[in-house]
Amino acid sequence: MFDFNIENMGLKTGEINKLLKVSRVLNSTLDLEAVISEVLFQVLEAVGAEAGTLWLLSEDGELLEPAVALGPKADVIRDLKLRRGEGISGKVAESGDPLLVEDVTKDERWARRFDQSTGFLTKTMMVVPLVTTERCIGSLQIINKVNGELFNEGDLTFARALINQCAMIIENRREYTHQNQFLETMLKNIISAIESRDEYSVGHSQRVGRYSLMLAEEMGMQERDIKLLKRASYLHDIGKIGIHESVLAAAGPLDPAAAEALKKHPTIGAKILSQMEPKVVIRQIWAGVMYHHENYDGSGYPTGLSGDDIPEVARILSIANSFDRLTTDRLFRKRTTEEGALAEIEKGAGVLYDPVLVDLFIKAAMKQRHIDTAKL
Ligand SMILES: [Fe+2]
Repeated sequence: MFDFNIENMGLKTGEINKLLKVSRVLNSTLDLEAVISEVLFQVLEAVGAEAGTLWLLSEDGELLEPAVALGPKADVIRDLKLRRGEGISGKVAESGDPLLVEDVTKDERWARRFDQSTGFLTKTMMVVPLVTTERCIGSLQIINKVNGELFNEGDLTFARALINQCAMIIENRREYTHQNQFLETMLKNIISAIESRDEYSVGHSQRVGRYSLMLAEEMGMQERDIKLLKRASYLHDIGKIGIHESVLAAAGPLDPAAAEALKKHPTIGAKILSQMEPKVVIRQIWAGVMYHHENYDGSGYPTGLSGDDIPEVARILSIANSFDRLTTDRLFRKRTTEEGALAEIEKGAGVLYDPVLVDLFIKAAMKQRHIDTAKL
């Protein structure tokens, strides 16, 4: 949790209470836009301003883009961009120093093109930099006091106190997003490389992910579990990395030895997963990788688990996996229609698959068909 020091800032009790209230909001949501909107709203309300925009520097640092805008012309502002160093907000984002401007029309730094395109009348302005421990990542622009007065040092102090927290949260979320993107793309590429060893498997894990999530939504699964299920779907066949290509891409039916070798991929995958961290995340993914070929009646592999002893994530993957196998071409078998595949899955309810999940999967697939048909 981000913490901040409000001592020695000369703030009044009411202002401190507001800061604490916003601090609670900031730390209670992962929705960055909601966080920024709340901060901007609180600043506008506290200083009695007409409009405001929080500008963020783009990834390459060349542009300032509005993260959130509030006020009469907010809808228009959201589509506009500032060049690096352009206007008073751009200058503040570049220098890292706040500015109070009594009359923007007498300030040569002012980017008047904004008022020209929005029809808004900017008079006074207060701009505060968004500074993290390492750099300035944007600026908070507050426009026109409603009572016609000028912004003062007290307004500036309050806005800075709020925005300092916001800057750190934005930076942390960006870092989190980058790490996540890196992980997601790395996973996809590793899995693509494994799947490319067998032309009939290309895209299989992504499709299994799609079908698993479709079922998870029908089950009303929690967001956190959905994320883990998605990872488990991508990784469920990662153990195939340890299976020889002559088995994976065999030109004819597998002999008993090759079939046994292929059946090792869940345990190989589980072994790979068991060496990963953190365990609290890996545990559920591991279960999906290890048990996705178990059958509900205990006739599957590698352990012969049955019924609800098979972890839920694996029972989901088992259905999604079969649905994809049935609906894509294989070496010795043409794909079947979606209806045919659903009928096949239904036949396996209670034998191969969890019957409750089969019902939900069929329901979800029918809904999806309605959506797809409606799009035509
Ligand atoms: Fe598999």
